[in-house]
Amino acid sequence: MHDERRFNPQHHHTLVSPQRQARWDPPRFLARLGLQQGQTVLDLGCGPGFWTIPLAELVGPTGKVWALDVSQEMLDALAARNPPPQVHPLCAKLPTIDLPDDEVDLAWGAFVYHEVEPPQRLAVELRRVTKPDGRVIILEWRPDAKHDDGPPRAHRLSPRQLAGWLREAGFGKIAQTWHDVDAYLLEAS
Ligand SMILES: C[S@@+](CC[C@H](N)C(=O)[O-])C[C@H]1O[C@@H](n2cnc3c(N)ncnc32)[C@H](O)[C@@H]1O
Repeated sequence: MHDERRFNPQHHHTLVSPQRQARWDPPRFLARLGLQQGQTVLDLGCGPGFWTIPLAELVGPTGKVWALDVSQEMLDALAARNPPPQVHPLCAKLPTIDLPDDEVDLAWGAFVYHEVEPPQRLAVELRRVTKPDGRVIILEWRPDAKHDDGPPRAHRLSPRQLAGWLREAGFGKIAQTWHDVDAYLLEAS
């Protein structure tokens, strides 16, 4: 059975469509994150790897990307795209993150946070797995987006809601670092 709030894994190909590549241009978009070779990244709800593979290129062969998704179908679609060896798939259901404490320099979550229940618990797990000097960066749909693509508006999270959960979980510095008419980026450390 497919969970109503969750992206339908049978539609995985739409997540790597040429139109979406053109819209986001992941290597260019991710350049603003300042990732370094050798770092460890967690890609939350990685899907077929739209962001995972460019993240792996940024951390290089000495780095590591944990590609976490609840859907084995999504992870199979990622594997079919031949990711580099620094990508490590992890089949897990958020908010649980089956990684040790202080594991990652960056937890990156694109268009997944609004699909996770309960959201407060995810913020606590993110604080636990992120290194003391690490960061969490969340890309989400605006509830007041200009266009109608994306999840139902009732499912979307405002930057204020998201910042509240991250603050309660122990992140001291939270800022919206980018937005356009449809989406925003929230960074916590
Ligand atoms: C809208 S897709 C976004 C995929 C990818 N981040 C991207 O932007 O291309 C959301 C992804 O999160 C995964 N997902 C949803 N709920 C999840 C959960 N509770 N735990 C782990 N993964 C989840 C879905 O299977 C799906 O692959």
